Amino acid sequence: MRVLVIGSGAREHALCWTLRRSPQVDLLACLPGNGGTAAIAQNVPLSPTDFAACATWATEQAIDLTIVGPEVPLAGGIVDAFQLRGLRCFGPTSAAARIESSKVWAKAFMLRHAIPTAPARMVTAASLEDAVQSLHNAEAHYPIAVKADGLAAGKGVVIATNAAEAEVALREMIAGQFGAAGAQVLLEEFMTGPEVSCFAICDGAHYRLLGTACDHKRAYDGDTGPNTGGMGAYAPATWLDAATLDAIDQTIIAPTVAGMAAEGVPFTGFLFAGLMITPQGPRVVEFNARFGDPEAQVVLPLLHTPLLDLLEAAIVGRLDALPPIAWEPGAACGVVLAAGEYPLSNAEDLPISGLETLPPAILTFHGGTRLAADHALLAHGGRILTLVGRGPDLATARASVYAAIDQVQFAGARYRHDIGARG
Ligand code: AMP
Ligand code: GLY
Repeated sequence: MRVLVIGSGAREHALCWTLRRSPQVDLLACLPGNGGTAAIAQNVPLSPTDFAACATWATEQAIDLTIVGPEVPLAGGIVDAFQLRGLRCFGPTSAAARIESSKVWAKAFMLRHAIPTAPARMVTAASLEDAVQSLHNAEAHYPIAVKADGLAAGKGVVIATNAAEAEVALREMIAGQFGAAGAQVLLEEFMTGPEVSCFAICDGAHYRLLGTACDHKRAYDGDTGPNTGGMGAYAPATWLDAATLDAIDQTIIAPTVAGMAAEGVPFTGFLFAGLMITPQGPRVVEFNARFGDPEAQVVLPLLHTPLLDLLEAAIVGRLDALPPIAWEPGAACGVVLAAGEYPLSNAEDLPISGLETLPPAILTFHGGTRLAADHALLAHGGRILTLVGRGPDLATARASVYAAIDQVQFAGARYRHDIGARG
């Protein structure tokens, strides 16, 4: 079987590593891939947003199955483009990916299907002055979440602690700080409680829960500093009790999958519910139409059922016929090693050392790495590596990754010291 993974992050490296465990996979390619995927897959130097070029390559190479990692090609319609060419591509269509690519659409969808989430008001340029006035009303509650409608690389949410901050954030978004993604903005009631990422694999009609994980979104220790794509994660969400997990399944995942199908936009792909466990129960913070990064790096190593079996069942709409998903016992803890400037971008090339001396039990998933002409491994900005420790419990998994992490070095390397500390 010939399999293609689209994307270049540590999530895609983890997807490739997981697929490599299925002996049926005789060709594995990653487009464009990175310095880590190069060791286990064939990197394809094309852009994931050039759908015509990607589909032509997949056709020429007789690819049997394509799996799309990141949101940007999904929102743009890569699955639609592949399907038009008769190629099997796992992920939501552009219309179904709206559950992530438009927070306004997702909020209205949740309202239509009584899926628990925070109440919100939608603002456009036409209603801006009205909305600003309401922010200064005596009845306004703070903090408040100000959210750009569209994809903004994880930067489109501001938690404003007072009216002045909320007004600045709202005006900047409407004025075009995130381009068209901010043409509509949600003013959303602030929720409290621990956050959890919950995953399901979906075939349009059926789904299977695919684990839970806890991300650490802020850049610095103690949940301080700017928001990032995620500085580390652990799985499973050890503190989540069975009743809450059941509530997530029954009140959030099931009606979402059923609602998408009923509205004519069946969801096929990895569904990622970003949740807050509020005093009133689990509520949706946001949906994503893909696996999480760094969540994939800690969830996939715990998956015992071959991922390929799940994907093959999902792509033909037969997840219902699959035996229960089996998991490895224990926990996984993943810590991201980021470039010094991250979350600001910088694509300076820096040599990486120490990977070869890591204990074999530590998994290394590459994000922003590339191979130089002489095959030397270079850090190339952003989230460079995710190191993952595993163990019979979270404390052991956590201790193993932190015992090893300082062996890996590149100039400016930075990581959080408290990933999994509260798990
Ligand atoms: P999002 O990009 O929607 O996941 O938001 C980024 C982060 O902002 C979330 O992980 C939450 O920590 C926080 N956040 C978003 N919406 C809310 C809300 N309504 N109440 C409290 N925190 C929120
Ligand atoms: N780690 C959060 C995300 O993938 O969006």
